[in-house]
Amino acid sequence: MGMKRLGILLSGRGSNFEAIADNVAKGAIPAEIAVVISNNPHAAGLEKARHRGLPAVCIPSKGMEREVYDRLVVAELQRRQVDLVCLAGFMRLLSAYFIQQFRDRILNIHPALLPAFPGLEAQRQALEHGVKITGCSVHFVDEYLDAGPILVQAAVEVRDDDTVDTLSARILAQEHRIYTEAVNLVLSERFRIEGRRVIRT
Ligand code: GAR
Repeated sequence: MGMKRLGILLSGRGSNFEAIADNVAKGAIPAEIAVVISNNPHAAGLEKARHRGLPAVCIPSKGMEREVYDRLVVAELQRRQVDLVCLAGFMRLLSAYFIQQFRDRILNIHPALLPAFPGLEAQRQALEHGVKITGCSVHFVDEYLDAGPILVQAAVEVRDDDTVDTLSARILAQEHRIYTEAVNLVLSERFRIEGRRVIRT
């Protein structure tokens, strides 16, 4: 049995991708990165993947119907024999078709303690709501926005002098840590899903 193969989907900067790639390179994640795919031709993460010598593919989503687009992405993931899909700042909802092709094999990272503050600018939402604790979540992806069973969360304190930028930076450090933890949990297969709960076994 060979190494498990990761497919990374991103739309922007790609720092979560880099954290995963660093840990793969160090042997801290027992897998290989089979492909990095972006819907955004200008994503910095794509260039970062190429610099690391990883297969980096742009599949532009602009103007495309959701499922038509997802069929292209799924075909690329299957062609690369991807076992586990990691959304890393991939700012698109997935179609039912995509979910069905990779049932319980798609992870997402979100910069809030779900189910609080789904959607865009979660860090700003948390700051403006006045919560004292926020954080980040890695969860399985289903058809809904930032939903699906939660694998790992980390809490981050909101400070009185925080701005969106300072808060986002502290959350991001935790994102980079828990994404690897969640990937390793899934790769280990030492869990089961009971309803919405992910139970370690
Ligand atoms: C991360 O903060 C991630 O949690 C967030 O986008 C950022 C991507 O940064 N994702 C979402 O908001 C998903 N709803 P990165 O490109 O540097 O990893």
